[in-house]
Amino acid sequence: MEDLIYLDNAATAWPKPPNVYEFAIDFYRKTGVNPGRSGFDMAIEAGNIIEDLRVRLTKFFGGDENVPERLCFSYNATDALNLIIPGLLVSGDHVISTNVEHNSVIRPINCMVRDQGVEATYVPFNKQGYVDPDDIKYALKPNTKLVIVNHGSNVLGTVQPLKEIGQICRDKGVLFAIDSSQTAGVVPIDMKDMNIDVLAFTGHKSLMGFTGIGGLCVREHLEIKQIRAGGTGVRSAYPYHLAEYPFRMEYGTPNMIGVASLLAGQDFIEEEGMANIHAREMKLARKLVEGFRQIDGVIIYCWENFDNRLSTVTINIEGMEAGDVGIMLDVDFDVATRTGLHCAPLVHEQLGLIPVHGGVRFSVGAFNVESDIDTAIEAVKEIAGRVKR
Ligand code: ALA
Repeated sequence: MEDLIYLDNAATAWPKPPNVYEFAIDFYRKTGVNPGRSGFDMAIEAGNIIEDLRVRLTKFFGGDENVPERLCFSYNATDALNLIIPGLLVSGDHVISTNVEHNSVIRPINCMVRDQGVEATYVPFNKQGYVDPDDIKYALKPNTKLVIVNHGSNVLGTVQPLKEIGQICRDKGVLFAIDSSQTAGVVPIDMKDMNIDVLAFTGHKSLMGFTGIGGLCVREHLEIKQIRAGGTGVRSAYPYHLAEYPFRMEYGTPNMIGVASLLAGQDFIEEEGMANIHAREMKLARKLVEGFRQIDGVIIYCWENFDNRLSTVTINIEGMEAGDVGIMLDVDFDVATRTGLHCAPLVHEQLGLIPVHGGVRFSVGAFNVESDIDTAIEAVKEIAGRVKR
């Protein structure tokens, strides 16, 4: 494992910053009790870190700082999106989404279409991998209730123009939701400025927390229908789930080690500077792309430009199955990537990659170094040389 070149950061950031492991484990050892249920000091202290994190993340996402209770925790972005999508749409509504979505958006929408009489339109991306805001505008119908967009593609690494799409939504009185799984922690997000009504996030990628923590940030004016019910730790005699935030969107005992990890992740991002982390990752991604461009038989998807991007690069080698390339990278070179459809089938469908079973994704993270990229380029060169042309 020591020699592993980890280039699967779009799946989960690894390793985490040292302060995240230290703080989270220390917190859990000393204060890992159930928050909000009991009145002893440790339980109050545990509750306090959740409230601190709500305040911090609300500010981080440009949410409404007067209502930090609208920053609610869930297991991950998929869980949050499964609260948001069925919580906003009803039979007869139309929703617009895009071909860059992850299944965490596609599948809840498709369930609503199949089971609840919701209509959906998926807008394609252009040759460079970006959604044209005008295409969102043209897709609007009188019954469009919601536009939901993946901020950063987990396959192409393209970052979508949220501000422009948000403006269209504002002008037309349509709700705007985003999936920030790939961007939160590396690309600035300002919900107020971008007119985002609700945002889903996951903790374990560039926010540098552990797996099993994520959430949603809901603007002050928006009500999301409650679709689950359970214990909240307060007003236990009340026979229904509480309507007020954060309880409205939170159910059962929260993931406290996840909360602690996210709080420490915020410290890491603040200390390093989000722009610095992103610039470092992009420098390595550029080197990767430029290296791949020199190799015969390598096809790189949607990397004509280096702006508005994440450090995620998907390729194929002509004449090889993506999965086989991934196995060779792993077994022969200790390079960890993710191959296949990356839970984003519409991206691959639009690129015509379903017959070759997707692509090989290299995703650079905050702790990669130049030599990792050199190894990955050499490995791809060697593998591409195995194909008889
Ligand atoms: N959504 C994550 C990925 O793209 C897991 O790999």
